[in-house]
Amino acid sequence: MPIPKAELHLHIEGTLEPELAFELAARNGVTLPYPDTAALREAYAFDDLQSFLDLYYGLMAVLRTERDFEDLADAYLARAAAQGVRHAEIFFDPQAHLARGVAMGTVVEGLWRALGRSEATHGVSTRLILCFLRDESADSAARTLAAAGPYLDRITGVGLDSAEVGHPPAKFRAVYEAAAALGLRRVAHAGEEGPPEYVTEALDVLGVERVDHGLRSVEDPALVARLVRERIPLTLCPLSNVRLRTVDTLADHPLPAMLEAGLMCTVNSDDPAYFGGYAGDNFDAVRSVLGLTEESVRELARNSFVAAFLDDDEERRAR
Ligand code: HPA
Ligand code: ZN
Repeated sequence: MPIPKAELHLHIEGTLEPELAFELAARNGVTLPYPDTAALREAYAFDDLQSFLDLYYGLMAVLRTERDFEDLADAYLARAAAQGVRHAEIFFDPQAHLARGVAMGTVVEGLWRALGRSEATHGVSTRLILCFLRDESADSAARTLAAAGPYLDRITGVGLDSAEVGHPPAKFRAVYEAAAALGLRRVAHAGEEGPPEYVTEALDVLGVERVDHGLRSVEDPALVARLVRERIPLTLCPLSNVRLRTVDTLADHPLPAMLEAGLMCTVNSDDPAYFGGYAGDNFDAVRSVLGLTEESVRELARNSFVAAFLDDDEERRAR
């Protein structure tokens, strides 16, 4: 039985497996620029974040209806449950869908059809986190938050993703202030490819409660000391880091040193259909390749529930 865990860094669009992509393409009359699933999988050889994002946004063309988003989320929740995930905080990228003429309501209602019954069907509680694309304008982010207005009862927080370098967190100060005023929780990707200064800015300017990735924090000892002192959770994604070449090999991943330093690390899958594994696969990989002790694995699982946006009762039930 895999260890119970919460998944806190998961892009629902990044769970689109090639088989489902072709099924949805056929259902919606979309032609994919690949002859079959094997050819598509072969395209999953990335040099960096941008080369992944190009494919990730391209493949979203198959997601058109509420049922598509429902099927996508249902497939993820089934796989996550099988790997011991008891709670999932799920990112979605509405701007990537709005730009293709797919309405906010189609995305949120579709996802919600699966999320709303997930505790009953999969034994997985869920939260939904709306991410702004940082390579789009601050105005576009503000319009996206406004478009989410009718669905805020379904949305727990906001995040920030997509191409990091050249798009520092401070660009989104105003929309994060607006989100906070609406009672939304705040997270942001920072320190994946971007410098440690982006992590500091996400904390100080955006007021984030968790940092997604935060890997490059290790380059700044003063920042590490602060993250330890303030118990800021980092949602690490080891297999993603290998595939996007943020680390050379898994054996080079700084997770053991980060735990040793007292950082509140969690292990997550990011975009599991693209990066070679779901949450349990990431746990297995760090356990075997990095030689983590059972105590460290338990600490990672415990951290995931502590860092989740669950109230105390829910946290006790989930773990
Ligand atoms: N980083 C930034 N943006 C993303 C990612 C990621 O790993 N996955 C999906 N959007
Ligand atoms: Zn991510």
